[in-house]
Amino acid sequence: MLDALNRPLHDLRISVTDRCNFRCRYCMPREKFGANFEFVTREKLLSFEEIHRIARLTVPLGVKKLRITGGEPLLRAQLTSLIRQLSSLPVDLAMTTNGALLADRASELREAGLTRLTVSLDSVDPDVFAKVTDTQLELACVLDGIAAASAAGFKAIKLNCVVQKGINDAGILAICRRFRGTPHIVRFIEYMDVGNSNDWRRDQVVPAQQILEMIDAEFPLRPAPENYPGEVAQRYHYADGSGEIGVIASVTQPFCGSCSRARLTSEGSLVTCLFASGGHDLRAPLRSGASDEELSALISAHWTKRTDRYSELRRNTKAPRRLEMSYVGG
Ligand code: GTP
Ligand code: 5AD
Ligand code: SF4
Ligand code: SF4
Repeated sequence: MLDALNRPLHDLRISVTDRCNFRCRYCMPREKFGANFEFVTREKLLSFEEIHRIARLTVPLGVKKLRITGGEPLLRAQLTSLIRQLSSLPVDLAMTTNGALLADRASELREAGLTRLTVSLDSVDPDVFAKVTDTQLELACVLDGIAAASAAGFKAIKLNCVVQKGINDAGILAICRRFRGTPHIVRFIEYMDVGNSNDWRRDQVVPAQQILEMIDAEFPLRPAPENYPGEVAQRYHYADGSGEIGVIASVTQPFCGSCSRARLTSEGSLVTCLFASGGHDLRAPLRSGASDEELSALISAHWTKRTDRYSELRRNTKAPRRLEMSYVGG
């Protein structure tokens, strides 16, 4: 199944909640996501059975990878049970988390069939971490979570570091030092203009090329081939064999041409681009008795019409109101 720009559907990213226990300034700034913010209400949340049904129907359409996202997915009650249900599908099953609640949950997630894990980690300096994430939860919880996940059998954990000029870019080499010599893969992500809340400015972006030059000057790097067509990260190995890093250059080198990702929000909206201003509701048909064939045809119809390529057009696009990152799931 190809979209209007000939791109297959390969990944389904499933957001299980739009809530989070962090308030990262670039994603959920506290002044906009405060006590009065209206999160998705319980009745609107897809049940695990509904999520499983959508996921199952996307497999024959080409989906090879499911990624559980949030907000913070570990805030969703009984998440392990969803993982267990999804693990029966013939796909790669991954999750992106902020890691704060991971220490106690890593082994049950692994046992339930989660195959891969990505943890967001913007700094290994406790003060910078606190400033970026704007939470009382400590950096040590996240580092303990990574260690617990590693001990539970998650081998190459990916660590996502969103780089912001003047905020955490001075800590890039410290992160490299900390994880060199481990199987974990740090990926430095260019700060993006997702959502409407972060007052993004292009001059806050540190281009991936600059990040690579900075790392290469201290720890020489060798480019590595992509793991699969359309991989968002460009991979590099340390020349001395001490591990792998990656950069995700979504601003300076957009990768819409090979974008094979659809997103399912926690309330059942199918979103075909991270920068979309809306999605296609699947919850109403799910709850009004649509058959598998009808649902599958609906998903196909939305995908085959897809023309999204926001990051490639960024310079020429006047931004309409967009969905928030915490709602779409990154
Ligand atoms: P694997 O390759 O399976 O390990 O996962 P991934 O790199 O696709 O997943 P991950 O969620 O870690 O993605 C990394 C980050 O890249 C995301 O959090 C986003 O910040 C960014 N990203 C992922 N997909 C897209 C996309 O379709 N468009 C844009 N602009 N950015 C994306
Ligand atoms: N730019 C780039 N990456 C972001 N993320 C969240 N907001 C942004 C942004 N504005 C990242 C998080 C997480 C992933 C889901 O998306 O750090 O790792
Ligand atoms: Fe939460 Fe992740 Fe957004 Fe930070 S980036 S506020 S951890 S959802
Ligand atoms: Fe895909 Fe949209 Fe990101 Fe482009 S901007 S890579 S189309 S999600």
